[in-house]
Formats: sequence, C-alpha cells, structure tokens
Amino acid sequence: ENAFSEPSDNDIYYGSFPYTFAWGTTTSAYQIEGAWNEDGKGVSIWDEFTHKLQSPISDGSSANTACDSYHRIDQDIKIIKELRVSHYSFSISWSRILPDGHVTNINEIGIDYNNRLIDALRLNNIEPVVTLYHWDMPQALQIEYGGWLDSRIISDFAAYATLCFERFGDRVKKWITLHGPQTEAKMGYDTGEFPPNIIVNFAWSSATSAYQIEGGWNADGKGESYGVAAFAPGHYSPGEGVYYAAHSIIKSHAQAYHIYNNTYRESQKGQIGITLNSNWADPMTRTDLEHQRNLAFATGWFADPIFGTGDYPDIMRYNVSTFYLFPKLSKAEKLLNKGTSDFFGLNHYTSHLVVPCSYYQNLDGPTYDSDQVWLISLMGISNNLSQFNQFLTFCTFTIWLSSASTWLYQVPWGIRKLLIWIKRTYGDPVIYITENGISEHFSDGLDDDIRVNYYKNYINEVLKAIKEDDVNVKGYTAWSLMDNFEWAEGYSERFGLHWVNFTDPERTRIPKKSASY
Ligand code: NOJ
Repeated sequence: ENAFSEPSDNDIYYGSFPYTFAWGTTTSAYQIEGAWNEDGKGVSIWDEFTHKLQSPISDGSSANTACDSYHRIDQDIKIIKELRVSHYSFSISWSRILPDGHVTNINEIGIDYNNRLIDALRLNNIEPVVTLYHWDMPQALQIEYGGWLDSRIISDFAAYATLCFERFGDRVKKWITLHGPQTEAKMGYDTGEFPPNIIVNFAWSSATSAYQIEGGWNADGKGESYGVAAFAPGHYSPGEGVYYAAHSIIKSHAQAYHIYNNTYRESQKGQIGITLNSNWADPMTRTDLEHQRNLAFATGWFADPIFGTGDYPDIMRYNVSTFYLFPKLSKAEKLLNKGTSDFFGLNHYTSHLVVPCSYYQNLDGPTYDSDQVWLISLMGISNNLSQFNQFLTFCTFTIWLSSASTWLYQVPWGIRKLLIWIKRTYGDPVIYITENGISEHFSDGLDDDIRVNYYKNYINEVLKAIKEDDVNVKGYTAWSLMDNFEWAEGYSERFGLHWVNFTDPERTRIPKKSASY
C-alpha cells in the first residue's frame, strides 16, 4: 500500500536480529586487487577490456591498481576488524592462480596470496566467504573457445573449483561458486557493456535456424555482431548467445556443487551455493502477469534451474523460443541442476515498477496512474533480452530517491517483498544477503548520509522479513567494504563504507559515516 511512498519513521520496526546472524562486507578480486600482471598472474577479460585503445570505461580507468589489495592485506584486515563484522566475502581471481585458465599450469604465488588473506582473516576471527568467480574470466579461455559460449568451460571450471577446494577448503567453510552471473551474461553477451563485449542487435531478420547452430561457420557475421574474435563463430545467431552463455554458467555451477558435495563435504564440512542478482519488480497495473514475467527473466532464469524445477521458467522459454533457439535441458541435466545450492545468495539493490511497453507507447503524457507519480525514465528496451521480456519496460519514479548509479533507486520495501517471493517460490531456502548497498559520487566524501539512510531502511526491511514474515535470512554482507572499481563506471560511482583515495599511492582507506553507523 505504500508502493509510492518513502518509509517514514513510523515504518521503522523495532527489534533485534538473531544472535547468530552473520554480518559482513563483500568485495571482488578484479574490483580491488590491482597487481594485474604481477607475480605470474594471467590476463583476464577485464584486463583486456579496460586496456582497449578506446576505453569502454566511463572515466577511462582500469583496475590495474584499484585498491591495491594484493599488496595491502593488512590494511584490509584492519578496516574489516574495525567494523566488528563476523564475515568477509571476497573472490579468487582465476587467472591469478591459473594464468591460462588450466590446472596444468598453477601459479603458486597466486595461491599464496589467497592463503595469506584467508589465514589473516581467521587469525582475526573473521570467517572467509569465498567466491570462485566474479566475472574475471581468464582471457586465455576466452580466446581458446569463447569462454561461457563453449561447453568446454564446464570441465575447466570444475578443475579450477577442485583445485580451490583442495588448497583452501581446510579453512574455507562457505563457498560461492559464481557471483551474480545473470549480470555478467547480460552485459557481456547481450548489451556488450562488459567483456567479452559481444554486442548483439535485436533484429527480426536474423532470427535463427537449426542450420546456424549445427555448425554453420559461414553464418558468422550475420546481423550485427562486433566483439572479440573468440566469439564462437557461427554457433549462435546474434541474440541468442546470452542464453547459451547462461546455460554453461548454470551447468558449471552444478558441476562444482556436485564435486564439493561428493568429494569434499564430508571431510571439509562446509557449505556451497550460488548468489544471484535480483531486483524486485512490482506490477504497475495491479495485474500479476507482468511482474511475474519480469521476475522470471531477471531471477527465475537462473533460480528455477538451481532452486526450483531444475529447468528454465516456462514463461521465459515460451517468449524467447518464439524467435530464437532457447537451450534445452535434458531430464538428466535438470536433475543435475536441481537443489545444487545450500543457500540462496541474494545480491539486491533496487526495484522497478513494470508495465508492458505497448502500454507505455500509448501514453500521451508523463503522468501515470496517479497524479503524484511521474514516469521519468524507461530502462531496458534497448537490448535483446529485454525485448524478449515480452515488451516489458521498467519504470522508475521521481518520488524514489536516487543514487550515483542510473539504475539504482532507493526502494527499501522492495527487498522485503523479494525475500517473501523467494521464500514462497523456492521452498523457504536459507537466504544470505550477499550484496546490498548504494553508490555516491566522488565529491560526496565521508559524510555519506545517503548510505546511512539506505542501510537503515533496507536492513530494517530485512528485519521485518525475518520477524514478521518468517523468512529464513541468516546473514547480510554489505556491498562494499570500500570504494572500488565499479566495472564500466570505473571509479565514478562509490559503493564503499570506506573512502579510498585512488590518486594516493598508499590507497589509504578512511571510514565514512556509514562505517560507524
Ligand atoms: C553487483 C556486482 O556483483 C558488484 O560487482 C557491483 O559492484 C555491484 N553490483 C554494484 O553495482
């Protein structure tokens, strides 16, 4: 009922989190480590991408040095300790420990860096939560066979995961296979804003045929596709690569889960799962259909195979396969996917109101539904995946507070609705909120009231979900410990609880107001 309004103090729920609740912060390797070519590290697709002559990054930067965490374990431990959190969630750089992506060539210095980090955390009573992969594919595998577009990635990921369980699993008890893979698939293989930068233009004339996926190499170049040479030529038509990238991501996850489950769980006694990025979608027209469709495309795409039926959502298959080939999962594959996560890792930031595009096109003025609600932006209609989102468009409203990121509006009640939806849709799983946070600009400095408010309101909605709705949320790690390289936005959007001066060689980390809050 308060869909359009800001929470007021009356909305604050007083109570406390369970004693055993896990609190922490999250980072990822490429975004903080730096040392991109030191001590035997191999190149990742992000190194390659950010080094392009014409920078695809909004401020022209790269994460060559970033927060320099590779050389500053002590500084990171110090600020994590000062927060008095119990958990720290970070990712391993695949190409730092396997420079060419293969286990035949192990970089022991890279292993040693992760060992030192894990040991330092444990020494300080902070539990490491370790992600195997947060978007930084070894460039060698991208060149060799096209990264996620080729099924050979599944066994390479499995071998890499096995090595990590072997080397770190005696001390790491919480594993995350992949962090927010929908975003990587969408941005890397649909819009092209991320590497491997396979830009696909939605073009009716390039709808696929069986011939094209059965090895029609001469189909390369059909429609408009720019990208790295490694884009598996001819295997996919422009437009459908994203679904096949997602397909091998899901299978890679399932494989890693089974390896852990069958070989390491008993001796290492840990947990393993996946984290998914999910926005909440509220229906604008008070009918159920469009927000269900939106959630299926945004979350169900990966969540249904892993937490639900084992297969893709019907609504998604139906919409996409009208125009393109949509990957199929065999009965055996569905069984392999199903139930392969000990917890639902949730990365959540914002919400949308959704409305069919056709509806929008008929609008002749900016007002909508209510006089107070102004349609100010439309997102997601410029690329293939959203086109297939059955002509849905996302709307945001002036009444929602914004952030430094165009896509991030503050909608605290959205996280509670999403938590309830996950509980109902996927059989009441244990949920860890593995990312949540807000960006501000460089100039906003240390007085980040925007972040204090965001955390106050969002965390309070999480508390309501636990106490009032009985959602099984067991932990919360905030994005992010410190300002870092925000992918295509470089350093122009700051998500940190700590301020980092990126021109200072020491990369001093200074707590913002939100850190003490
Ligand atoms: C989700 C991603 O996993 C993370 O890497 C990114 O920095 C945050 N969202 C903020 O955009």
